[in-house]
Amino acid sequence: INIILLGPPGAGKGTQARKLEEERGLVQLSTGDMLRAARSSGTEMGRRVAEVMDRGELVTDEIVIGLIREKLAEGGNGFIFDGFPRTLAQADALGALLDETGMTLDAVIEMQVDDAALVRRITGRFTCGNCGEVYHDETKPTAKPGVCDACGSTDLGRRADDNEDSLKTRLLEYYKKTSPLIGYYYAKGKLAPVDGLAAMDEVGAQIAAALNGK
Ligand code: AP5
Ligand code: ZN
Repeated sequence: INIILLGPPGAGKGTQARKLEEERGLVQLSTGDMLRAARSSGTEMGRRVAEVMDRGELVTDEIVIGLIREKLAEGGNGFIFDGFPRTLAQADALGALLDETGMTLDAVIEMQVDDAALVRRITGRFTCGNCGEVYHDETKPTAKPGVCDACGSTDLGRRADDNEDSLKTRLLEYYKKTSPLIGYYYAKGKLAPVDGLAAMDEVGAQIAAALNGK
């Protein structure tokens, strides 16, 4: 199956995508992770997107659609689109790419979280630089301070765009450019809303219920 996780910054898309990878053997396609990999590899494209990302703005449709096209060409048994699509143009492009490759879109999980909670989630987040595991100072600390539970690495850090200024821009970008996708996928009969404010396992259970039989 192929699903989209749709929701504002900090809604828990990455957290649930990793869970779905483990439980269902799907492949997470996070355009945010791909762009961060591109910038740390020092390519020309990476340099161009770094500033845009740090300000909290969206990078161009052309760049992210290109990244997704490459990944889909590699093939696979089912994808979780995490942070993509984020504009109507990206949604149309994804529809066309899925058609070309004979794949279908099974569900769009809309993760609903209010803005005050998003600020707490983003400002408390830290990530393992080695394996990508996502933590939170209050809701998901590591068992041993400074050591990743999943891989034992001590390379734990915070994202450059996880500050209050960039977060404001990220939220504005979400409401202006991404939230119209809720209506877009509702009209296509694909939308499944879940309560993103619930505890992590409860959110996972709601997603599983929405995918029941798929
Ligand atoms: P991206 O990396 O996609 O960031 P984002 O959408 O802002 O989403 P986040 O990764 O911040 O949040 P999340 O929903 O994954 O939450 P998480 O699970 O970590 O994009 C970054 C930038 O790249 C963009 O600003 C843009 O510049 C560019 N970009 C990316 N894709 C693009 C595209 N398609 N087009 C154009 N530009 C693009 O959870 C957050 C925190 O909350 C964690 O600490 C976690 O532990 C905690 N948490 C999670 N769930 C719960 C829960 N249920 N209860 C309590 N705490 C929880
Ligand atoms: Zn790790």
